[in-house]
Amino acid sequence: MIIIDNLQKSFGRNEVLKGINLNIRDGVITAILGPNGSGKTTLIKSILGMVIPGDGSIEMNGKGIHNNWKYRNQIGYLPQIARFPENLKVKELIRMIKDIRRTEGKEDPLAEMFDLKQAMDKPLRHLSGGTRQKVNILLAFMFESPNYILDEPTAGLDPLSLIRFKELLIAEKKNGKAILLTTHIVSLVEELADDVIFLLEGNIFFSGSVEELKSKYGGLKLEHSIANILSGQHV
Ligand SMILES: Nc1ncnc2c1ncn2[C@@H]1O[C@H](COP(=O)(O)OP(=O)(O)O)[C@@H](O)[C@H]1O
Ligand SMILES: [Mg+2]
Repeated sequence: MIIIDNLQKSFGRNEVLKGINLNIRDGVITAILGPNGSGKTTLIKSILGMVIPGDGSIEMNGKGIHNNWKYRNQIGYLPQIARFPENLKVKELIRMIKDIRRTEGKEDPLAEMFDLKQAMDKPLRHLSGGTRQKVNILLAFMFESPNYILDEPTAGLDPLSLIRFKELLIAEKKNGKAILLTTHIVSLVEELADDVIFLLEGNIFFSGSVEELKSKYGGLKLEHSIANILSGQHV
């Protein structure tokens, strides 16, 4: 559970987050939508402690994150662009992340699920984009964290891996995990998201279910409702 209260962040004169209030609930998949530059990554980085907010507070599982770096062990994070040492083999990278987290994770079931056994002995520079993304998924989920933060997690996945990924998310949701993701893939939101947050110009423009978003902003399909909001036909 992550509770965000009145979160504000400016870069110079650019007010990117203007007082965000948001609960990321346990056992729920929350999707953050919003056009490029609307502050999705800034919000995620604030939760991770990579961006220091100008005002407001963030609580994770009942404790404020300010001056309390240990909370990061409660997060499985999948960055939009992961940069790892290219010469490391996949299994060496996994070892390195385990050492950094000082936790033995469980990579075998995930390696099985995403058909990564053969990739383990390959250096990262030899991997295709989709295989890299599968490695990122494995790293994000192998520590069985109570909270997951996933920035565009399905980029480059083949159809079978995408099905496996959706199954994984549904299983983790059933396990009571709090799952936050950003994506531009509308079908993924439609299939998986319980709570939808739409960021626009630094504020939460909409918060509710997919069905509520559709009925409020027209369009039988979610993509049309989103297009209506983005093209300014919502007023
Ligand atoms: N480190 C930074 N320094 C200055 N401006 C930034 C920085 N990070 C993000 N911004 C600005 O904040 C706004 C929101 O960016 P971002 O959170 O990356 O949006 P999104 O992820 O929704 O595309 C943009 O106007 C971007 O230029
Ligand atoms: Mg972003």
